[in-house]
Amino acid sequence: MNTQGDTHKPIERDSSGNLDQTLRPQSWEEYVGQAKTKENLRILLTAARERGHAAEHILLYGPPGLGKTTLAHLISKTLGTNMRTTSGPAIERVGDLAAILTNLSPGDVLFIDEIHRLSKSIEEVLYPAMESGVLDIIIGKGPSARTVQLDLPPFTLVAATTRMSLLSSPLRSRFSGGTFRLEFYTDDEIAHILKRSAELLGVNVHEETLAHIAKRCRATPRTANYLLKRCRDLAQLEGTDLSNDIIDKTFDLLEIDTLGLTGPDRALLFAIIHKFNGGPVGLNTMAAATGEEMSTIEDVLEPYLIRQGLIERTPRGRIASSLAYTHLNP
Ligand SMILES: Nc1ncnc2c1ncn2[C@@H]1O[C@H](COP(=O)(O)OP(=O)(O)O)[C@@H](O)[C@H]1O
Ligand SMILES: [Mg+2]
Repeated sequence: MNTQGDTHKPIERDSSGNLDQTLRPQSWEEYVGQAKTKENLRILLTAARERGHAAEHILLYGPPGLGKTTLAHLISKTLGTNMRTTSGPAIERVGDLAAILTNLSPGDVLFIDEIHRLSKSIEEVLYPAMESGVLDIIIGKGPSARTVQLDLPPFTLVAATTRMSLLSSPLRSRFSGGTFRLEFYTDDEIAHILKRSAELLGVNVHEETLAHIAKRCRATPRTANYLLKRCRDLAQLEGTDLSNDIIDKTFDLLEIDTLGLTGPDRALLFAIIHKFNGGPVGLNTMAAATGEEMSTIEDVLEPYLIRQGLIERTPRGRIASSLAYTHLNP
């Protein structure tokens, strides 16, 4: 029997562990939420495609796991072109970027993940490429150095970042197609994503049970899929269906609490409250007190804690809200 193309067939256990790829939405219909971004992109991409031009450059930003890479795939699919993928840290030399750009075919999407990690010298090569479709290459050194200009095929740069604040303003201003911030998902949206993933994984589960998981997924699709898989593992080992009981056990094992906070989240709140009297406390002090990297606090931990109203960012530093006190000491 040919099951290809039937996305709702339970998939075989995947020995490569590449379930993330399997669960990634393949169409705009499957991409839940982010309604404003989707609508704006639909107009931008459809108009470009109708004109037969490459779409203008697009910047996507937001915390990890909210669907930036998935959107980049959908953008290239909609434009009907190929997507080349690279990332800020992977482009070490100007020559690396030159090689990528000169190998694009007309209309291609170039996806640069973690674009905030591009070096200054590479950014400077990227500007004219984005703006005028040319590549300025300096050949030689000292007085005999000269610049050669190459014409590039028209392309669409789609860039993603978790750290908007680290992007230089000249770089930001060159995303003429638009800058889109991805939002955290509502519990209903997460439940919807879980439902599709459960079908793809062949997991039998009640909607009410999915809603039970959804509340504790940090409002993040990647976390939702991860937790669904962990719940499925335990159900399998215990030889039962995926029930509320299995879910509670899984969350206990992973030390995820009723708000979806994990150990590092609670350690951060604990530090603000007990070591710094509730704040205000600066980012580097928090990092030193918890042993977390500043970037982990800023990119991963803090956005969700702020969203949940557990901490606030003030000009003088972070403070814990009264909700944080009651959450830690109910
Ligand atoms: N809007 C969405 N609807 C359904 N699933 C999503 C959505 N956004 C993300 N996902 C799921 O979460 C996973 C992580 O998304 P990804 O695009 O890799 O996030 P990011 O690049 O922002 O870190 C994807 O593999 C996909 O399964
Ligand atoms: Mg990504």
